[in-house]
Amino acid sequence: MNDQTSPLTTLASETTPDAQPLADRGENRSQRPSSPAFRDFITSSWAPRAASTVVPSPAAEYTAARRAALSDAFPGDRLIIPAGTLKQRSNDTDYRFRPHSAFAHLTGLGTDQEPDAVLVLEPSAAGGHDAVLYVRPLAERDTEEFYADSRYGEFWVGARPSLDDVTTLTGIQAAHVDSLADALARDVDTVRLRVVSEADDTVAALVESLRAEAETDAEAAAYDDLDAELAEALSELRLIKDDYEIAQMREAVAATIDGFAKVVPALPTATGHRRGERVVETTFDAHARLEGNTVGYETIAASGEHATILHWIRNDGQVRDGDLILLDAGVEVDSLYTADITRTLPVSGRYTDVQRMVYQAVLDAADAAFAVARPGTRFSDVHAAAMEVIADRLADWGLLPGTAEESLAPEGQFHRRWMVHGTSHHLGLDVHDCAQARREMYLEARLEPGMIFTIEPGLYFKSDDLSVPEEFRGIGVRIEDDVLITADGNENLSAALPRRPEEIEAWMASLR
Ligand code: GLY
Ligand code: MN
Ligand code: MN
Repeated sequence: MNDQTSPLTTLASETTPDAQPLADRGENRSQRPSSPAFRDFITSSWAPRAASTVVPSPAAEYTAARRAALSDAFPGDRLIIPAGTLKQRSNDTDYRFRPHSAFAHLTGLGTDQEPDAVLVLEPSAAGGHDAVLYVRPLAERDTEEFYADSRYGEFWVGARPSLDDVTTLTGIQAAHVDSLADALARDVDTVRLRVVSEADDTVAALVESLRAEAETDAEAAAYDDLDAELAEALSELRLIKDDYEIAQMREAVAATIDGFAKVVPALPTATGHRRGERVVETTFDAHARLEGNTVGYETIAASGEHATILHWIRNDGQVRDGDLILLDAGVEVDSLYTADITRTLPVSGRYTDVQRMVYQAVLDAADAAFAVARPGTRFSDVHAAAMEVIADRLADWGLLPGTAEESLAPEGQFHRRWMVHGTSHHLGLDVHDCAQARREMYLEARLEPGMIFTIEPGLYFKSDDLSVPEEFRGIGVRIEDDVLITADGNENLSAALPRRPEEIEAWMASLR
């Protein structure tokens, strides 16, 4: 249990007086000796710690500019960006920690374990802001945390960086998280606080209580707006990727393409297993853990009619020869950038005629979207270009209750029965990146160099869809690539993964 209670932990237990601190749960089965003699024994006779080998992170050169842009947007305000805290999975076990993406973007910290860290941009008298990173540093060996704290202690989860290490790594002044509450309370009557409230409930509650001290009714009504504006700005800051981010995205895409190549030779194992989709999922996910941090989202391994379920992540179905398998998967690299790629592969290695026809329609829609993806095009027009092709093909097949033009009109949209999702979303630290950006900065915005988003049209004919010919039923196809907008057009970052049917067949044959 944690005797090194920080002001933040105290606040959390005050707000939920009856709650047992998480670290105490499971106490009934723990057998922790606690005599003074034991404590003296376990905290003594350790060799001095080795000298630090921490070097500046390659992200550090870029994060200062990101913080400066945020500083410019909110002069004079105290900006609070928590990493978030450990999340309980069950009883006394937590999920693996992943920092909030806004925190990762502004600090460059990726897989480094920094639960409870908080970045504060403190308005400075000289203008601009000073960044301070509040962290829980490595505890000394003479503390109980060292050996007895199963959530944070070195004995239990390994050593964390010291304050100096954090500063070296990030280029940001580091301070102990125990000093956060006082730092946030300074001058609250005159300094406006803005917090990423979704990241850490305890920090959000602390900010709320500080605001309550200084509050007038008019201000109270506006607090949500202050925080929403910060969330929007943080999302919009990520719409254009810098060179470091683009390099990380290339690595994420390359690792993902390698993962797809690992899946192809596993398909015979998948067809021989009662839950073949799990063979596909775990083959990809093992690769993601080995070559990156993990997957960027739950892998979709959807065979046969499961491919018509957009986010099929149960992945407990059979994989049958003759089926298509839709694999939508992304490796998240250690910096936390993720790819998001889909290929729909013939399990046998060859598409049937009807599978090929549906596949080609989706591919034509994707190609139409690529053809307009360049600076100046409106984001929503990329989707419109894909939808024209989708509506056209569906009309050719006689599936629409009217013409393609009628379907494309706002009051029509009949083609959406077979593709209810959008064609594109921004991609980066989050698979659905920049999600809190304003509409005028996202859907209605003009494309600019440095934007990275997906192009992912699909067609999904459910097995019980009586509006389509029988041979279409149970076929789902999505083709998803990751696209970088360049000065005069676009680059398909995932172009190295075959996407034309004959190329896919040749690639699969070469891997078997
Ligand atoms: N993998 C989720 C998506 O494509 O948006
Ligand atoms: Mn996607
Ligand atoms: Mn996807």
